[in-house]
Amino acid sequence: MIVVASSNGRIGIQAATDTIRQGGTAVAAVEVGIRLVEANPDDHTVGFNGYPNILGEVELDAGIMNGRTLESGAVGAMKGYLHAITVARQVMEQLPHVLLVGDGASRFAAEMGHPPQAEMVLPETREVWANRLRTDMSNSDIEQIAERTDLARWVQLATDPERTKGTVNFIAQDKDGNICTGVSTSGWAWKYPGRLGDSPIIGAGNYADNRYGAAACTGMGEMAIRACTAHSLVFYMKMGLSLAEACQRAMADLRDLAGRFISVMNLVAIDKEGNHAGYSSVDGRTYIYQTLNMPDYEELPRTVVPIPPRWG
Ligand code: GLY
Repeated sequence: MIVVASSNGRIGIQAATDTIRQGGTAVAAVEVGIRLVEANPDDHTVGFNGYPNILGEVELDAGIMNGRTLESGAVGAMKGYLHAITVARQVMEQLPHVLLVGDGASRFAAEMGHPPQAEMVLPETREVWANRLRTDMSNSDIEQIAERTDLARWVQLATDPERTKGTVNFIAQDKDGNICTGVSTSGWAWKYPGRLGDSPIIGAGNYADNRYGAAACTGMGEMAIRACTAHSLVFYMKMGLSLAEACQRAMADLRDLAGRFISVMNLVAIDKEGNHAGYSSVDGRTYIYQTLNMPDYEELPRTVVPIPPRWG
């Protein structure tokens, strides 16, 4: 029985582990852990105070998968509600659908009784956004940004490869051996409105199957979508590869992507026995895990499979 998370899950891993200790499900543990990250204003890649899109609006993506049933739920580009992971879980458990986006996701959050969150960023974060735009755009360009018909041009100028990373991953295995994955993100800073990353795309940003294991990704979501990374990793275990071999193979798939816009990618994974692993394309990245007999989490370096960046 174990909880594994990306390192920005530190704030939530104890609550997730306690949920399982107290007999809760893997699904409940993942939701509890991620909600604490979504509420953390110091994390600019997830939930409240996440970096906004190019229009200055925070759009949230989240996905969750129950490895016992292979049921999943996700929301994409959801505005005005904080706990995207809970809305994703409600999509999974209360609708015949898997993915709701945009206005439909917000509408469903309201129907589920979530309180609207009028302001999703603190003033200093809005200032970071405005300062970034000011380096490329005049003040009058910024004032008219919502009406512009050439956002594609500006989104390329404002795109910052250093800010493409970020997202929280949780994987939990409960006392019954059931596995759940969850991911939540405010996505790529200064992104084009409506852009979805890998987090709401089941099989790209997360995938769980009790029979084999589970995986979840952070980093440049477009790469995980192109390589179907989370599903591929679990599929490699299904084909008989060990956890380490499956992780290496999934990273190699990412490394072998051709074309442009190749940046940092990271993944965490477990096999069905609860063995865990963390991989990254760059040095210095860590992940955390906690088992039920550990009083606190342990933080470990990720194994590096280098992926040379290519941009623009
Ligand atoms: N991995 C998060 C994103 O690209 O949106």
